[in-house]
Amino acid sequence: MSNRGNFSSRLGFILAAAGSAVGLGNIWRFPYLAGQNGGAAFLLIYLICVFMLCFPVMIGEIAIGRKVQSDAYGSYQKLGGGKWGYLGLFGILAGIFILSFYNVVAGWAFGYFLEISFGNLLDEKDFGAFFGSYINNVWTILSFSLGFMVITAVIVSQGIQKGIEAANKIMMPALYLILIGLIIYSLTLPNAMEGVKFYLVPNLSNITLQTLFDGLRQAFFSLSLGMGCLITYGSYVGKNQNIVSSAAIITMADTSVAFLAGLMVFPMVAAINAYDVQGPSLVFVVLAQVFHNMGPMAGRIVGGSFFLLLCFAALTSTISLLEVPAAYLVDQKKLPRKPVVWGLALLIFVLGLPCLVSQGKVEFLSHLFFYKDRDFLTFVSDMCDISLTVGGCLMCIFIRYRWKINNMNEELAIGNPTYLGSMLQKYINITILWVCPILLGILSIGVIIDKFFGLEWIFG
Ligand code: PFF
Repeated sequence: MSNRGNFSSRLGFILAAAGSAVGLGNIWRFPYLAGQNGGAAFLLIYLICVFMLCFPVMIGEIAIGRKVQSDAYGSYQKLGGGKWGYLGLFGILAGIFILSFYNVVAGWAFGYFLEISFGNLLDEKDFGAFFGSYINNVWTILSFSLGFMVITAVIVSQGIQKGIEAANKIMMPALYLILIGLIIYSLTLPNAMEGVKFYLVPNLSNITLQTLFDGLRQAFFSLSLGMGCLITYGSYVGKNQNIVSSAAIITMADTSVAFLAGLMVFPMVAAINAYDVQGPSLVFVVLAQVFHNMGPMAGRIVGGSFFLLLCFAALTSTISLLEVPAAYLVDQKKLPRKPVVWGLALLIFVLGLPCLVSQGKVEFLSHLFFYKDRDFLTFVSDMCDISLTVGGCLMCIFIRYRWKINNMNEELAIGNPTYLGSMLQKYINITILWVCPILLGILSIGVIIDKFFGLEWIFG
């Protein structure tokens, strides 16, 4: 293999890709989207999106990356020629913007981890008000976000094996352990079963078009699809590895963490009857309150563990987000890794500043007139979501019309000799050729209309 680096083993790749997938999306965003969309009804739609649309796209991305062994731009460019490289660039840009806002939220989590662990929240009474003012503490959040970006850059600058793989090998098992511990605790809380019921018994009347749109964009975001992240990670995978089974494990690892995060959060919501707390503040408000109610010592330990979990999850994702543009500059412009990583980290940190002050500090960024009065962080996050489903749709079109499905199948058969002719191969072919491009195309247009005009615009 060339000297661009590679994962040392199959486990190394799976942990790194699962680490990219498991992130704030699973632990911070999935529970609040499930809460807003009627709990189990959302879970159901989410699972359908994951297995019907996301799993095939993931396989396609890894196959493209491993075939060419290049960054997202280089992969599309070499396989497709012409202007196809732009599709890779589009993904790289999306990754840069995702990281810019993601790092701000990671800064909130990092801040909460330190505050709770040091017992600084012991006297708080109203956690809703506290959260609102905390994230507007610009200098505090600025330093935590900067700290987070520095840790990300330190890891990515060490390269694939010594940086990304090594970090994931420590953080991913730790993350699972903390999560399981917290679920066990959560299920012992008063009213826990009521929370579990809210989460797990589907009320089909809650399924609307909104549920479908939210489920789809969440699934793409959660699995890190549509922006070349798995093309980049796939480019470091050895030719002897079985892509399809690795993708299945990554998908299941990510989905199980999202599912388990809900199982941890909803009993806590039920314990303090906080079903009315909705949206991005859910874990910062409800969970902080629950930890506070536990008393000083236990609250610090359990609360600290939870926010550490959130930080680990975020970090395994931020390193993958930074690796995507870094790989592009290293592979295409032949620049040295270390300065590239630090330069990008600084640039992306600065790019995130408008998001950082959009939570009330700067008026016009907090209420965008062209975006239904919503804030700039939400705007960037929504635009990125749209670019992921569009990116996934275009990837399928690329495979269908340019690379050709037979070439993809040949790549998938390397390391997986029984793949050709199997039922799974037929399923993946049909989804990549027909189901994904059509549904992703329609749904992406639906999400755009929903975001800018509202669904009333279509249905009156
Ligand atoms: N999958 C991550 C999460 O769920 O938090 C976010 C993410 C990481 C999206 C990497 C896209 C990406 F390329």
